[in-house]
Amino acid sequence: MASGIGDTFFKETKYSRENVSAMRSATTERPPLYKEYPDKTRLALPKASAETLSLDQAFRNRKSIRRYAPTPLTLGQLSYLLWATAGVQRTMGDFNFRPAPSAGALYPIETYVVVNNVEGLPKGLYHFAVRPHALEELKSGDFTRDVVRATMGQRMHADAAVVFIWTAIFQRSKFRYHDRAYRYIYLDAGHIAQNLALAAVGLGLGSCQVGAYFDDEINGLLGVDGTEESVIYMSVVGVPG
Ligand SMILES: Cc1cc2nc3c(=O)[nH]c(=O)nc-3n(C[C@H](O)[C@H](O)[C@H](O)COP(=O)(O)O)c2cc1C
Repeated sequence: MASGIGDTFFKETKYSRENVSAMRSATTERPPLYKEYPDKTRLALPKASAETLSLDQAFRNRKSIRRYAPTPLTLGQLSYLLWATAGVQRTMGDFNFRPAPSAGALYPIETYVVVNNVEGLPKGLYHFAVRPHALEELKSGDFTRDVVRATMGQRMHADAAVVFIWTAIFQRSKFRYHDRAYRYIYLDAGHIAQNLALAAVGLGLGSCQVGAYFDDEINGLLGVDGTEESVIYMSVVGVPG
């Protein structure tokens, strides 16, 4: 019996031959493609290159890892994971494409990392700046306890070396796809998280994807409003324990 908000959303965001032109017409101004924090300290990341397992081996080995050793990630490993999920993979003219596909190449997802244990990187909350392939330091300190609380007590967030937090800037996709954008945004996030999972396995690391969190507690940590920009997915990464 279809009756809830999810059923209504799904029904009202279907394309049909009658509505498709209206549903695909851009009506509002396109927001900027890149979010950057010009007033924050920017830390350059090493060039993303790595020896990894074969894709076949990565498919065979991937599983959710929830126990982590207190072994740090290298900055090179973190750089590779950020590149594989959200970095610049190829450029056409002045447009940058990324390793994960994105509906309409609109790239609505932003990446934040809570760094717990990475060689040469102080603990803190960082935003990934895509174009310069750099981290912007938003807050320094240990935020792992806040993340454990905001994820309903999931301890792995304190033990893992890094917590990836993905937000969506909804308007980047909505200006073209209207409410159907929400379908695509979540699909985009799934591609990104799967790239992380496979890249992590490829590097001999583990990851676990996370959908159980108090949204506005995570949004508060990031300093985003939860409406224009909101957390939509998370993952932890580290050396399996
Ligand atoms: C959208 C999504 C949300 C998830 N949320 C959590 C979570 O909050 N905590 C957790 O421990 N695992 C979470 N998982 C991991 C699943 O429990 C896991 O993928 C599933 O049990 C299959 O096991 P496997 O990944 O080891 O193959 C999530 C996975 C997905 C795809």
